[in-house]
Amino acid sequence: MGTTYTSEINPKKVTTRRLFDMKKKGIKISCLTAYDALIAKIVDDAGVDLILVGDSLGNIVQGHDTTLPVTLEETIYHTKAVMRGVRRALVVADMPFMSYQVSAEEAFRNAGRIMKETGCHAVKLEGGKLVTEAIARLNEAGIPVMGHLGLTPQSINKFGSYKARGTNEVEAEKIFADAHSLQEAGAFAIVLEKIPAELGKKVTESLEIPTIGIGAGPNCDGQILVYTDMLGLTVDFHPRFVRRYANLHDEMIKAISEYVDDVQIGSFPSHDESY
Ligand code: KIV
Repeated sequence: MGTTYTSEINPKKVTTRRLFDMKKKGIKISCLTAYDALIAKIVDDAGVDLILVGDSLGNIVQGHDTTLPVTLEETIYHTKAVMRGVRRALVVADMPFMSYQVSAEEAFRNAGRIMKETGCHAVKLEGGKLVTEAIARLNEAGIPVMGHLGLTPQSINKFGSYKARGTNEVEAEKIFADAHSLQEAGAFAIVLEKIPAELGKKVTESLEIPTIGIGAGPNCDGQILVYTDMLGLTVDFHPRFVRRYANLHDEMIKAISEYVDDVQIGSFPSHDESY
């Protein structure tokens, strides 16, 4: 008997409206990243509500130290691939560094390209008050936008480290105010990254739109992780907020080493595996 996937039992496509309703009903939203069709299909089949084609692809897929080098063309390439693997989840493409900061017009042009060329359902961009003009412009044109506050990796050169944000009163108040500015500008959801759980709770309870936490405590309306972290594919990254559900790095090393041995001793391919 074949596996019955969550996406088959509940095939109704996830929309921004549905996420809003989930918040209202207190149903938690599950989100993961994906960067290609193979993984996107697995993530979607497993019933994840929202798939983010994160600019973390710069670290995970391309091997960069930061997300900054990711280009618009690369985002479009990976988002197109993800879209081919998904039938149920809402797919959000991360707008790369400098594709939306220069002006609302440029954000509009680039988000328009992402939506038109990939068929994805929404875009995400980082920042507070400064990006509200861009969010309003995109929203007016029918492009749903997800915000991202707290630790915003595209600002790593300003922050100087990946430590938690909003840990002092001034920064916490700014994150709270920015969250409300994003909601007013028309964002449909906000990622809250690496902030104190208490602040995550306060922001979540005060907003009508859903919050999606990554290291922002259990009271956010949903949670997101980078899929390679939760599957234990990335081994040298151990932030407190990552729960490992598998150890695929070690599993893969074991399987591939066995294959290497079999090739070396000549036991692969066998008679049955030959023509
Ligand atoms: O790029 C990314 O993967 C992200 C998530 C960590 C939220 O922005």
